[in-house]
Order: sequence, then structure tokens, then C-alpha cells
Amino acid sequence: MPNSIRAVGELVRPSALSELGGTQDYLYFLVRLLKPDIVVETGVYRGISTAFILAGLSDNQRGRLISVDLPNASYVTDEGGIDSSELGKGREPGFLVPDELKVRWRLERGNSRNLLGGLLDELTQVDMFYHDSEHTYRNMTSEFETVLPHLRGGGILAADDVTWNSAFADFVARHDFEWSRVVGKRLGLAVVRTRRKFAEPQPDEPTSPPGHAAKVSTREILPSTEPNQAETLGNRPGDRL
Ligand SMILES: C[S@@+](CC[C@H](N)C(=O)[O-])C[C@H]1O[C@@H](n2cnc3c(N)ncnc32)[C@H](O)[C@@H]1O
Repeated sequence: MPNSIRAVGELVRPSALSELGGTQDYLYFLVRLLKPDIVVETGVYRGISTAFILAGLSDNQRGRLISVDLPNASYVTDEGGIDSSELGKGREPGFLVPDELKVRWRLERGNSRNLLGGLLDELTQVDMFYHDSEHTYRNMTSEFETVLPHLRGGGILAADDVTWNSAFADFVARHDFEWSRVVGKRLGLAVVRTRRKFAEPQPDEPTSPPGHAAKVSTREILPSTEPNQAETLGNRPGDRL
């Protein structure tokens, strides 16, 4: 087992990990498989997903993670409940992330709806996106549609809690992905076609029920053979991520 994932596993309480239903393991192995240069995440909270993505990048010895988090956010869910994430007094987003993994991390504090567009324009292209912020239909759809033009061919869009509403199912039904599926308890995954071609939304197309992604194929998730723009950014220690 790589040292970084062991360090994260030792740091994070097993009960906190089981809340995630295995999502953290998928994230780690997706990062190991895809070898991304740029990963963008929304929703940090204590930093479990952040730590596992960073552990994958550290073991790959390449890549950066840029996270967007509105600390202590509270919002009304589509079902009318309140979802809130209180960090506790004096705690910062990602307080569980081991210091040695933070060299590849940049945290932007604020609402993803305000920050994501500008951040993605700055980065131009990303290899992997992970949504775990506000799980309303409106916000999930906004994040997915904002990130899609920036995801490279062969890149991965991942989203937690896709069973809360049909935003992910509707999104993958609207666009022509290489592969999409809901894995584990509630992790949605979609792989962008290497030769990108996204269809316009079809108004009378039926929407998929929550938890059932459309257009599922048996293709493996493989990294793109296209040259990656982010390689040219250089990844020197001390660079602003
Ligand atoms: C479910 S928690 C993230 C859990 C984290 N991914 C983990 O694995 O530990 C959701 C986080 O998103 C933040 N959040 C909620 N709404 C947000 C928004 N609109 N923009 C950015 N962050 C948001 C919350 O404050 C909280 O920190």
C-alpha cells in the first residue's frame, strides 16, 4: 500500500470513511488510473475526498488539485430539508488533510456558483472534476454544465450523492459521454469522449430516474492519449497551484 494512502487512512476515523460509502477509494484509484494534471473539486468540508485525491496525485508524483468550498454552508435540499456542514470552532476546510499532501493543493473559499466559471477559465482545461458541494438539482446542473466544456477528452466527471435528485442522470442523458454509471452507493461517473461531440439537449427525451445513468457502455476508463495541456504548466515546488 502506498505510504500516502496509508497516512490518510490512519488519520481519518473509520466511521467518517464509512459515511462516504467507498467513494474515497474510487477517487484514489481514478486518480492513479487517469494520472491527471489538473483535478477540480467542489465541497471540501473535513477534507476526506480532498485527502484521497491528493494521495493519488502524490503517489503519481504529478498533478494538482484545486478545491472550491464555502465553509459552514447550509442550504435547503430539493426535498425541503436543511443540509448543513458545520466544521466546528476554529476548524478550516480540509483540516484532516495531512500537511505533506498540501503541496499539490489550492483551496478557493466561496460559493461554487460564483467561483467555478472564473477558475475554469483560468485553468482552461481539466482532467477530472469531482462535485461534492450543494446537492440541489440547480447547483449540480450548474456545476456540471460549467465544467463540461473544460473537461478534456478522456477526462472524468465524478459526483457524490447523485441519488438525491436526477441532475446527474439528466446531465448524462443530455450529453454524449463515452461511459457513465453510478457506482458504490451514490457516486456518479462519466467519461468524456476522446473525440468530443456533445449533442444539443433533446426536449422530448425521457429523463433517467435518479441512480440510473444513461448511455452505459462496457468500455474501460482509459486515460486519453491526447497531449495534456497541463503538462506545459510545469509543476515546480512552490508554484502557485
Ligand atoms: C458533503 S460536504 C463535502 C465532504 C467532502 N467532500 C469530504 O469528502 O469530506 C459539502 C461541503 O460543501 C460546502 N458547500 C455547500 N454548498 C456549497 C456551495 N454552493 N459552494 C461551495 N461549497 C459548498 C459545505 O460547506 C461543505 O464543506
